Amino acid sequence: MTTTDPRIRKPGAAAYAEAARILRAGGLAAFPTETVYGLGADATDDRAVAAIFEAKGRPQFNPLIVHFRDGETAAAEVDFDDRARALAAHFWPGPLTLVLPRTATCRISLLCSAGLPSLAVRVPDHPVGQALLAAAGCPLAAPSANPSGALSPTTAAHVAQAFGDRVPLILDGGPCPVGLESTVLDLSGTDPVLLRPGGVAAEALEPIVGPVQRADANAEIKSPGMLTSHYAPARPLRLDATEVGPGEALLAFGPAPLAGAAATLNLSEGGDTTEAAAKLFAALHDLDRPEFAAIAVMPVPETGLGAAINDRLRRAASRLAIVDPAL
Ligand code: TXA
Ligand code: MG
Repeated sequence: MTTTDPRIRKPGAAAYAEAARILRAGGLAAFPTETVYGLGADATDDRAVAAIFEAKGRPQFNPLIVHFRDGETAAAEVDFDDRARALAAHFWPGPLTLVLPRTATCRISLLCSAGLPSLAVRVPDHPVGQALLAAAGCPLAAPSANPSGALSPTTAAHVAQAFGDRVPLILDGGPCPVGLESTVLDLSGTDPVLLRPGGVAAEALEPIVGPVQRADANAEIKSPGMLTSHYAPARPLRLDATEVGPGEALLAFGPAPLAGAAATLNLSEGGDTTEAAAKLFAALHDLDRPEFAAIAVMPVPETGLGAAINDRLRRAASRLAIVDPAL
């Protein structure tokens, strides 16, 4: 897929107007955020939101994040408490999603909440996403723009490859700078609970909101994004590799990539987890090719965004157990 794909549009007045027209008519448009590309629909339009589930092949129980232009418009739809206000002041616009109780007058489609009394809200930090929100004039429900169970897209070409003709317009904002989905923090209960590690490190939240509980992987699924195989490439993934096997591609980290790989992509030669996060999904996409027997992954430290990277890698690798328990 090349940039000559007519669905991939360079940002500009004409592209924003066309995307806004599609969205207001209940259609879908994909757009970049600082984390990953989102598959957007008017969040106040039930049928438009349903079209997202349809395009993604997503199980109906999976709720969606709703994107707003700013904190005030988000706060109008949910019970925005002091904790939410403090976090929003600090991290918005940015890669933090807050799960809060819906207000009685919430205009957002109930489908976005997938039967839960809460709603996930965030304000993205990307000029193209922001310009689209302004042009559309409505909040946008937008999951990551990948079919259910596949890797999140960090380029417009990823989106085009994944959806074929089901998405009529993809705004091209280049590669996403963060490259990992937003951190999802549940503030609907007494204690803040980390539902999904992401672009804001959990340790960065605690000085503002106090102790954050880590969601128990075995607990009842409150955030189906935590389903283990949610981020899987088709190729088997072998974590913590200390050597490379025959026909394996290598996802390297740090200054000393292992030798002998059929292909090597380095997440960060300098060992920087933020740089590695930005490259992670694009690298997995690039190495997920049939000529490779598997993708060997070098260890990534748990520091900074390393925790979120390792979370995604473990989920991607767990696909192994489902596809072939013998591996
Ligand atoms: O970075 C991101 O968050 C990207 C960009 C496009 O904004 N979006 C994204 O959306 O990753 P999605 O739908 O792929 O993941 C949303 C996550 C899922 O884990 C979902 O279960 C959780 O947020 N979520 C959404 N609403 C929720 C709710 N009301 N309660 C609990 N979890 C919720
Ligand atoms: Mg997703």
